[in-house]
Amino acid sequence: MLNQILQPIQPQIGRFEERFKKTLESDVKLVQAMGDRIMETRGKILRPALSLLTAQAIGECSDRAIDAAIGIEIIHTATLIHDDVVDFADKRRGTEVLNLRWGNQAAVLMGDFLLARALQVLVGLDSMEVMRAATRAVGRMIEGEIQEIQGGVEAESAIYFSMIDKKTASLMALSCEVGAILGGGTPEQVAQMSTFGKEVGIAFQITDDLLDFTGDEESLGKPVGNDVRERKLTLPLIRALGNCQNGEAERIQAKVRSGIESDEELQEVFHFVERYKGIEEAREEAKTYATSGLKNLLVLTTSDARQALELAVRHVVDRDR
Ligand code: FPP
Ligand code: MG
Repeated sequence: MLNQILQPIQPQIGRFEERFKKTLESDVKLVQAMGDRIMETRGKILRPALSLLTAQAIGECSDRAIDAAIGIEIIHTATLIHDDVVDFADKRRGTEVLNLRWGNQAAVLMGDFLLARALQVLVGLDSMEVMRAATRAVGRMIEGEIQEIQGGVEAESAIYFSMIDKKTASLMALSCEVGAILGGGTPEQVAQMSTFGKEVGIAFQITDDLLDFTGDEESLGKPVGNDVRERKLTLPLIRALGNCQNGEAERIQAKVRSGIESDEELQEVFHFVERYKGIEEAREEAKTYATSGLKNLLVLTTSDARQALELAVRHVVDRDR
């Protein structure tokens, strides 16, 4: 994450990193080996940043808020490990995924182990409010992921938005909700920060789906075109299909449905999406969600932490990885 975003919570990030590593420790060799690999391939820590900054912007970013951020980042890590099994992925963050190195069985069980550890950390906070929100978010993420695998090639934006709200936005909403609870927010502030996280989460996933068309493998750390290859219809393609009024749309959709077989076919789908304004429109929609999310920050008084949250939102839609 950009230094400027983390600046108001620099001491807390230091403690977060130390304790995150400790939380993954295990006396089972294979679990420790996979935990070490996870430590070597850390992500952007966007969710912990949102959580800690929210706590700080509302009141205080305490040790409890740090523990909550650890729980949330571990849940996130678990979901990506399971997602890589579900998606038959072989690369994430520039390196081979756990399922490729240790096989599906070990990877799935490691995801389960992480989920258990995360819940253990959250239980330690002794807050029913946090537990209720966390278990609800986990359930919704699983529903979203299942919705995605069964949704297949349905070119419907309503299904797409419901799915990304569940699989991605629910954890971002949780990050901000829990930050607000532990920062000592009023019920109104907690609700608004949850909405903030949800809208930023939707903007994040649309951007992720855009990067699958416009990004490059080097900066992304994973191959582009994966979604189309996996027969997933994400917003850029859904919008392009909707904008195309001739038979080409049916042909492209049939191609994606039956499975892309060559790089040429993939390029054809990419050009179609560009030509029928799928990229342009999806980018606009991501920005609209980001702007709508930002409005929720108005319940907070101005502070460095609030400014950093604003910057984080801009980063979510402007990033290249
Ligand atoms: C990445 O999406 C995946 C998610 C945002 C959610 C995954 C959720 C689960 C596997 C269910 C919950 C599991 C647990 C352990 C609670 P993507 O495939 O669009 O992104 P990618 O290109 O980065 O893989
Ligand atoms: Mg995936």
